[in-house]
Amino acid sequence: MNTRCWVEVDGAALNHNLAEIRRQASSGCGVMAVVKANAYGHGLQPVAKEFAAMGVEWLGVAQVEEAVQLRKSGIRTPILILSACLKGELEEAVRLKLTPTLSSWTEAQWLEKAARTQRKTAQAHFKIDTGMGRLGCRFEEAEAEIARIARLKRVRIDALFTHFTSADTDPDMTRRQWRLFQEIAARFPDKKRHAANSAGLLADRRFSADVVRPGIALYGCPPLPQWQPRFRPALAWKSRVTLVKRMPKGRTLSYGATYRLPFAQTIAVVAVGYGDGYFRSLSNRGSVLIGGLRCPIRGRVTMDQILVDVSRVPDVKSGDEAVLIGKQGKAKIHAAEVAAWAGTISYEVLTNVGSRVPRCYRHFFSIG
Ligand SMILES: Cc1ncc(COP(=O)(O)O)c(C=O)c1O
Repeated sequence: MNTRCWVEVDGAALNHNLAEIRRQASSGCGVMAVVKANAYGHGLQPVAKEFAAMGVEWLGVAQVEEAVQLRKSGIRTPILILSACLKGELEEAVRLKLTPTLSSWTEAQWLEKAARTQRKTAQAHFKIDTGMGRLGCRFEEAEAEIARIARLKRVRIDALFTHFTSADTDPDMTRRQWRLFQEIAARFPDKKRHAANSAGLLADRRFSADVVRPGIALYGCPPLPQWQPRFRPALAWKSRVTLVKRMPKGRTLSYGATYRLPFAQTIAVVAVGYGDGYFRSLSNRGSVLIGGLRCPIRGRVTMDQILVDVSRVPDVKSGDEAVLIGKQGKAKIHAAEVAAWAGTISYEVLTNVGSRVPRCYRHFFSIG
């Protein structure tokens, strides 16, 4: 195992976060664990298997290809494909008993054809656009579209759903979306309903409906900061010091010579760079933990290495651990903090951790 730069994923934290989600959701509500984009960087198959072993009712992925990997690893849990499927993907979706998202009559016809070829009935969830303007049928047309699809022989719409745009920032907008969704859904009482992502559920448990679709909160980064104490980050990102050098006042560091030493400093080279998914925008902005202390990044982040001021840390040497996200001693760096330094959101920090970085799994029930 390459131990220069790695990620540790904590199954106990995933378990804890799922329990928090279940506590917040209304009773009897199912949980769809959203595991798209490599389970938000945590590793698609191990994390999905773990959630399946914990008894989630659904898994949510973005693409048929992600669902194929889950079925290959033996997961039988129902899987919703959250993005629109291409016509050519629907046969595979039917064959693997996946649930595609439909937004239109055209897609429903494609699905009908794929189901007919295999002499099966395909299940789907129908999405209603109540303000996101991305997937989903425009709300004014949804009722007619659902009724039209109901006439197809081999497509069965089991559930209706929508997606909140701003549940973390705009309660009025969220309530408006919810009301529109409820009005349409009320005309189809036989169909299940779901709407809430992490922010929606944490903002108001009445948005639970029949199923909730949390992603980021399950990984321990709830989008409403007041909820942070209740959740445990599941991912720690670590690296190692590879060289330590005393540098005199006046020298410059890294590409572009953007940092000039105002006084002599001890500089550590740490084995991580943008080739691992560590943002270049952290240049001269971010910090890492070494020896239990926060050490600032000096100069530009390069492809494989960063330079860190370790002047305050005694006896730093090659091989010492550097924590990019996670805890060391009493100090910690949260993904949301890295995101703020880089001018982005924790979702992007997590999903950006590259394929060169091996993931190790701790306290994983399904791995043993
Ligand atoms: C349709 C849908 N539902 C749920 C989620 C999960 O969202 P979050 O990670 O904010 O909980 C996503 C993620 O983007 C999504 O696209």
